[in-house]
Amino acid sequence: MGAGVAEVAAKTGHEVVLRSRKQATADATVAALEKSLAKQVEKGKLEEGDAKETLSRVTPTGHLGDLANCDLVLENVVEDLAVKKDLFSDLDQVCDDHTILATNTSTLPVTELAMATARPDRVCGIHFFNPAPVMTLVEVVRPMTASDETIASARAFAEACGKTAVEVKDQAGFIVNALLFPYLNNAVKLLETGVATRDDIDSAMKGGCGFPMGPLAVLDLVGLDTSLAIIDALYDEFRDPNYAAVPLLRRMVSAGYLGRKSGAGFYDYSKS
Ligand SMILES: NC(=O)c1ccc[n+]([C@@H]2O[C@H](COP(=O)([O-])OP(=O)(O)OC[C@H]3O[C@@H](n4cnc5c(N)ncnc54)[C@H](O)[C@@H]3O)[C@@H](O)[C@H]2O)c1
Repeated sequence: MGAGVAEVAAKTGHEVVLRSRKQATADATVAALEKSLAKQVEKGKLEEGDAKETLSRVTPTGHLGDLANCDLVLENVVEDLAVKKDLFSDLDQVCDDHTILATNTSTLPVTELAMATARPDRVCGIHFFNPAPVMTLVEVVRPMTASDETIASARAFAEACGKTAVEVKDQAGFIVNALLFPYLNNAVKLLETGVATRDDIDSAMKGGCGFPMGPLAVLDLVGLDTSLAIIDALYDEFRDPNYAAVPLLRRMVSAGYLGRKSGAGFYDYSKS
């Protein structure tokens, strides 16, 4: 997600500092962006000059301190509350007082991230969707602690990225995932209980509801580990049995079937 959000921000004229834990990973992400931009030029979707300018706006780094002077830091690390809390605490130490610290979490409590800093009024969620360059929505998530100025800045950033912004309170799943993930989880339940095959479940939702992708293909795109973390976070918040992760999903994650990113999930991607 981090790479996609960096692409969107740079394309729309923002200077981006792309930070990974290792310089080599940050460099590789920018190299992948260069390739992707070149493909877009080849297909006539992007002017060559715009691709060059986009790339020139992205500075890869392995140092957290290089984020010090950013107006906005939007983290995209693994969906794990402890990891994100540590990161917010570190960002709070290194970033300038004016910097807004935002998270792209799909469902974790933004208020807890805000309280891991000494600037809870300048922390919020800015939730892009996957793939970020394609999907038009951004959820601006307002924890109880955020100031109106922070939310207005987050909304302005999302709109400057060419996205439609909606505002939502800090509650697990926000709008989209609170509605989407019980549906995806129940699709796995249909598969697990043998009610229908993978292909028939996906075909049914495409043909019957006009959805562009079936639910099992969506889970592979999102990542089964990220999906499980989202479903677990919904269950933690609401304790609703309908939000309890289906055992098959948990077992697939344990076995390393994470979807597209690992080469296999409900579908096999090893040849694509
Ligand atoms: N996958 C989606 O469809 C989707 C959509 C919207 C938002 N998100 C959110 O984006 C975030 C990232 O999700 P993803 O699907 O890209 O996950 P991912 O597992 O593909 O990538 C997470 C990255 O975080 C890195 N990482 C782990 N610990 C780190 C740390 N301490 N510091 C820096 N980097 C660290 C990992 O090396 C990895 O590159 C999550 O919060 C997720 O909820 C994901």
